Amino acid sequence: MTESVVGTANLVNRQTYDQVMLPIYSPAEFIPVKGQGSRVWDQQGKQYIDFAGGIAVLALGHCHPALIQAVQQQSEKLWHVSNIFTNEPALTLAQKLISATFAEKVFFANSGAEANEAAFKLARHYAITKHNPYKTKIIAFKQGFHGRTLFTVSVGGQPKYADGFGPKPADIIHVPFNDLAAVKAVIDDHTCAVVLEPVQGEGGVIAATTEFMQGVRKLCDENQALLVFDEVQSGMGRTGKLFSYMHYGIVPDILTTAKALGGGFPISAMLTTAEIAQMMGPGTHGTTYGGNPLACAVGNAAFDIINTPDVLQGVEVRRQLFINYLHEINSKYAVFDEIRGLGLLIGAELTGSLKNKSKEILQACAHEGLMMLNAGQNVLRFTPSLIIPTEDIAEGMKKLELAIAGLIA
Ligand SMILES: Cc1ncc(COP(=O)(O)O)c(C=O)c1O
Repeated sequence: MTESVVGTANLVNRQTYDQVMLPIYSPAEFIPVKGQGSRVWDQQGKQYIDFAGGIAVLALGHCHPALIQAVQQQSEKLWHVSNIFTNEPALTLAQKLISATFAEKVFFANSGAEANEAAFKLARHYAITKHNPYKTKIIAFKQGFHGRTLFTVSVGGQPKYADGFGPKPADIIHVPFNDLAAVKAVIDDHTCAVVLEPVQGEGGVIAATTEFMQGVRKLCDENQALLVFDEVQSGMGRTGKLFSYMHYGIVPDILTTAKALGGGFPISAMLTTAEIAQMMGPGTHGTTYGGNPLACAVGNAAFDIINTPDVLQGVEVRRQLFINYLHEINSKYAVFDEIRGLGLLIGAELTGSLKNKSKEILQACAHEGLMMLNAGQNVLRFTPSLIIPTEDIAEGMKKLELAIAGLIA
């Protein structure tokens, strides 16, 4: 370990978190200081396998050489110019996103919530401008998650995150996910948008069915409502296609992406068609940092690697390995009810003596040297690097098994 790492460890530790940080998270007891691929080291030099991938952000693992090079090169050229000027990396990344998807126009922001905020504002503004001022209803889904701004948390379908902050934006209705009849019952002329995650992430790793996705598309068309896909977690290769809508034979009107778009550098994007985009004239929306050259340079480098057959096809191969190991563990300990999700967005629902014990499992995993994630109390979530080496999957799974065996004993 380098001197500077030891020096830092002496100055701050996990107790410092409790002293100086807003107490909205309860981070693990160790502090990571270095990452390489799917391995991470903490302040004490202990090594971990990373199955969490920074919550589906580190699509290329930690410190990928191409991303390091992009940061280094761009950091010596131009960091930031604001939206008063445009810049080459942003234009290039927008071109790439457009040529690979349904989209014709791109808006860059810095986080998933900001991309969604822009998407929801756009959907409302489009409907109000094109149709009438009463076409404002947003249909969203129970257990959905779209971020923590007041608008996005209100569109999200988890009252535990949305309640307690006073009046919410109005005219948002939540129905059960994958329930086409429920959407049909509430969609009407006043609906401006249906908003969904093709694979609900935070809500428990639940993939939409093809029938549901195609049915919702049809209902949106019949009611002149826009279909908005939040692919903040499911996009950028996570499910084995560049975007997960590509599994379903339909296209959205608006799509948001973040997380893996920058491979660990904060950047997000909202994609849409030219016809919808034209409703937003100069001054209708904006951000100081969104699309800054540094973030977009990293985004370009990440995109060029992720959007290749090698990486995308590797996702399914790795998924199978994860699934096989999980079935093996389950055959010994019977702790998983259902193993689900798409690509490398995998959920394992807990049962038996580990029901609702995801937090305890995460702690036991950390003890064994494995960084794991949950999706609520009852689901273990796996969002590793899309290029995680097979040896690291094997080693991580051994650690998971040890953690589970220890808890059951
Ligand atoms: C589907 C989805 N939408 C939006 C967000 C919010 O993104 P951010 O935390 O970058 O604002 C998340 C974050 O987990 C997410 O999973």
